[in-house]
Amino acid sequence: MTGSENLVEVRDLKVHFPIKRGVVFDKVVGHVKAVDGVDLSIPRGRTYGLVGESGCGKSTLGRALLQLTPPTGGEVRFDGVDLTRLSAGRLRSMRRRMQMIFQDPMSSLDPRQNVESILTEGLQAHGIGGSRDERRRIIGETLDAVGLPRWALSRYPHEFSGGQRQRIGIARALVLGPELIVADEPVSALDVSIQAQVVNLLDELQERLGLTYLVIAHDLAVVRHISDVVGVMYLGALVEEASGDQLYREPMHPYTRALMSAVPVPDPDVEDQRERILLSGDLPSPANPPSGCRFHTRCPWAQPTRCADERPVLRQIGGSKVACHFAERIASGELRPHRVTAEVVRPADEGDAPGVVSAPSEPGSYV
Ligand SMILES: Nc1ncnc2c1ncn2[C@@H]1O[C@H](COP(=O)(O)OP(=O)(O)O)[C@@H](O)[C@H]1O
Ligand code: SF4
Ligand SMILES: [Mg+2]
Repeated sequence: MTGSENLVEVRDLKVHFPIKRGVVFDKVVGHVKAVDGVDLSIPRGRTYGLVGESGCGKSTLGRALLQLTPPTGGEVRFDGVDLTRLSAGRLRSMRRRMQMIFQDPMSSLDPRQNVESILTEGLQAHGIGGSRDERRRIIGETLDAVGLPRWALSRYPHEFSGGQRQRIGIARALVLGPELIVADEPVSALDVSIQAQVVNLLDELQERLGLTYLVIAHDLAVVRHISDVVGVMYLGALVEEASGDQLYREPMHPYTRALMSAVPVPDPDVEDQRERILLSGDLPSPANPPSGCRFHTRCPWAQPTRCADERPVLRQIGGSKVACHFAERIASGELRPHRVTAEVVRPADEGDAPGVVSAPSEPGSYV
């Protein structure tokens, strides 16, 4: 173990999926830039929350971090070791230390295996627990840790509720004694009433075991309270990074401002007075991302200079890191939001719909 404060350091990470055409020859005709230049660090024992709308590259980033999807470029340092350069053998032995929890435990758990078999499998694969008794002891302790009774061992995934199944998914990761857990939308498939229980369990386990987390969610509310830092992702890149409270209180990037403006506030007076920013147009395709600032096609503050030409880098402004050329002038109110004309590109096979339609945005009630 190195003395580095950060367990995880990601530098300029890229994952580009080839788009192939042709029956005989697989010709590469383009790339889906699912992750396109991400830098982030996660200190030991801390939680990084990653949020952004569906398709922005969160899962791909999580998988690339664990090398489950091979990155196209960049570095992923885990405990000081660049995982992208490890041999398959060394990577396999590192895997025990980094585990993943998935959104839908039903599809990630083998329905034909009982809980004991699910939990034993990983132990055997990594040569943990020399004897059957030793493995049973580890499994028993893990069940206690996630709040499942011992009788669960002989049961099958379908015999449990959604919340309990997610506890099995957590147990499967935990049984290996990992240091890092990537939780990809761990509560999105659960009833709202159960979500808090699972989030609290993750929080407790972190406290007790000193775990480091990357928690992915499309909803900031899920990660706000458990994250030390939240990163907001848009089209394969981070646009803002700050504490959850800071993001709620003072979102800096125009995309974050739009996301925050959609979150209801409990106080009806505040709710009535609030700035609402309605984003027009769909998320552009990561196969053909906009030039310059990826958000410029939808940004109500986009300027005629720089926005379409120059890609902004994430830079420190006060307590946040923001990837916007004009963040300071937007924060001070010097730049005002304007109407955006979004290009909605329709799929070619939609009957007689035009190829490209121009959709003027709803202006919303800009304050
Ligand atoms: N294996 C793959 N091959 C090709 N494209 C992929 C693959 N996995 C994800 N993508 C594409 O990459 C983009 C990001 O996907 P994903 O990481 O799943 O986003 P999110 O988790 O934020 O919803 C999407 O456009 C998705 O279609
Ligand atoms: S760089 Fe320009 S387009 Fe991008 S978020 Fe800032 S103002 Fe908007
Ligand atoms: Mg996902």
